[in-house]
Amino acid sequence: MKKTIGLASDHAGFPLKEHVKEWLTARGYEYKDFGTHSTDSCDYPQFGHALASAVESGECPMGIAICGTGNGINMTVNHHKSIRAALCWMPEIATLARQHNDANILVMPGRFIDDETAEKCLDTFLNTTFEGGRHQRRIDAIPC
Ligand code: RB5
Repeated sequence: MKKTIGLASDHAGFPLKEHVKEWLTARGYEYKDFGTHSTDSCDYPQFGHALASAVESGECPMGIAICGTGNGINMTVNHHKSIRAALCWMPEIATLARQHNDANILVMPGRFIDDETAEKCLDTFLNTTFEGGRHQRRIDAIPC
């Protein structure tokens, strides 16, 4: 069974989210888009919370969240207990977010990343496994 990837953005992240959808479709991934659905100004928490809830419930094992800087939507989704979202702007960081942090949401800064770099971040994030070991101990200690 294919795993559905959850997507969310605000208006500033909308163009990259549309590009991400094309990239996922071309590679056979299934996705669920939690919005927004245009470049009309909106508030990122609305869409970030919807995505984070779907990842928490298991509906979407992984998510991709985008706003202008990545910061606002990253703060939003990381308020959810079982979310480990990582703000990534280069593929090496996306790789380590999976290997060391077992991140379940990839966050990208739509206004500060080009499509090619975003694709590399996506590819490594979706195809890199968690290393466990000492990193498991560290992520277990994150919740307060
Ligand atoms: C929207 O203008 C912008 O503030 C938002 O996309 C994000 O960068 C906030 O953190």
